[in-house]
Amino acid sequence: MIHTGRHFLQIPGPTNVPDRVLRAMDQPVIDHRGPEFAQLGMDVLEGMRSIFQTQSKVIIYPSSGTGACESALVNTLSPGDPVLIFETGQFSNIWLGIAQKLGLNVEYVPGNWRRGASPAEVEARLSADSQHNFKAVVVVHNETSTGAFSRIPEIRRVMNRLRHPALLIVDAISSLAAMDYRHDEWEVDVTVCGSQKGLMLPPGLGFNAVSEKALAAHKHARLPKSYWDWQEMLKHNQSGYFPYTPATNLLYALREAVVMLHEEGLPDVFRRHDRYGEATRAAVKAWDLEIVCEEPREYSSSMTAVLMPEGHNADALRKVILENFDMSLGAGLGKLSGRAFRIGHLGSFNDLMLAGTLSGVEMGLRLAGVPHRDGGVMAALQVLASAGQPAEVR
Ligand SMILES: Cc1ncc(COP(=O)(O)O)c(C=O)c1O
Repeated sequence: MIHTGRHFLQIPGPTNVPDRVLRAMDQPVIDHRGPEFAQLGMDVLEGMRSIFQTQSKVIIYPSSGTGACESALVNTLSPGDPVLIFETGQFSNIWLGIAQKLGLNVEYVPGNWRRGASPAEVEARLSADSQHNFKAVVVVHNETSTGAFSRIPEIRRVMNRLRHPALLIVDAISSLAAMDYRHDEWEVDVTVCGSQKGLMLPPGLGFNAVSEKALAAHKHARLPKSYWDWQEMLKHNQSGYFPYTPATNLLYALREAVVMLHEEGLPDVFRRHDRYGEATRAAVKAWDLEIVCEEPREYSSSMTAVLMPEGHNADALRKVILENFDMSLGAGLGKLSGRAFRIGHLGSFNDLMLAGTLSGVEMGLRLAGVPHRDGGVMAALQVLASAGQPAEVR
């Protein structure tokens, strides 16, 4: 089938790349050890501090998000260190796998893939650790496989109340620059991110935002590292350079994306995503389908995962939508494979793109014979056409 117009890329990352960012990348490659590069390096390192909302250091790797996860662990921990990881979905499973392969001693707190990490569980596990054996607590902020986020400020408050010295390591790969996230204010020690979601870039950059406490831990961390070593990176970054060849043209893109995010203003970026989340959930409820996240306080604003009615396969629905309407939706991951689909509503995105996205889903439900009620798109339009604030705020 020939498709015309733009493909709808509505997976929860990689997201649509704005034309401004594409044009910023479309430059001759420069000498990454020459004078022009240093300014670019300084600009993006400084710019990313403002996006993470930190005064501390940010590290930028030519890597995927998974690389930046590995980096957070190898730079702060030693072989056999006990770490607490919360099962929130497929991406916490990835953290578990990395930590185990690195030889860390993981306590994996079970979860039902429908909620964020429980602050009460953090309290229970850490208060039982009077010897302060745990060296790190790892939490996925926005669990991209379920659309449930973890309440990081509450988790930090529990850790502070217990005076537990473990590092707090947070994966903000699908929330940074889409949902409110404050590295310094929330006292996160390492925040991990990737370029291909809220930052509106193609895949290829990984980030660590690093607290002073994490830098201190780094000095004694004995897990082997070379490519990921913060020390080497920070030494070169002082003058705007990198210890190896950086992804030069992605850094041009990043510089432009940071400008765009500040033109809109981070609070407005977050409010915009909150509205998309609210409108999408209004559609799903009107269709009489079930949202995977079962805790309204933890609804993601960057994506929504939807459960299929019993006996209907999410991949069959996604195939119908791709073939008929040229729209990619996110697959169910891990144990939600075939049982759920995911609607990405983050990054370079607007009200009419969301209206089109939800129209594609509603038409797809009909074509694929999935039992549902009509009226989801109408319900979403009502949210989008209202005052511009999410219902909780109005
Ligand atoms: C929350 C989260 N963590 C980790 C990753 C892995 O990132 P990457 O696929 O860039 O390696 C993703 C990717 O979607 C993610 O959403």
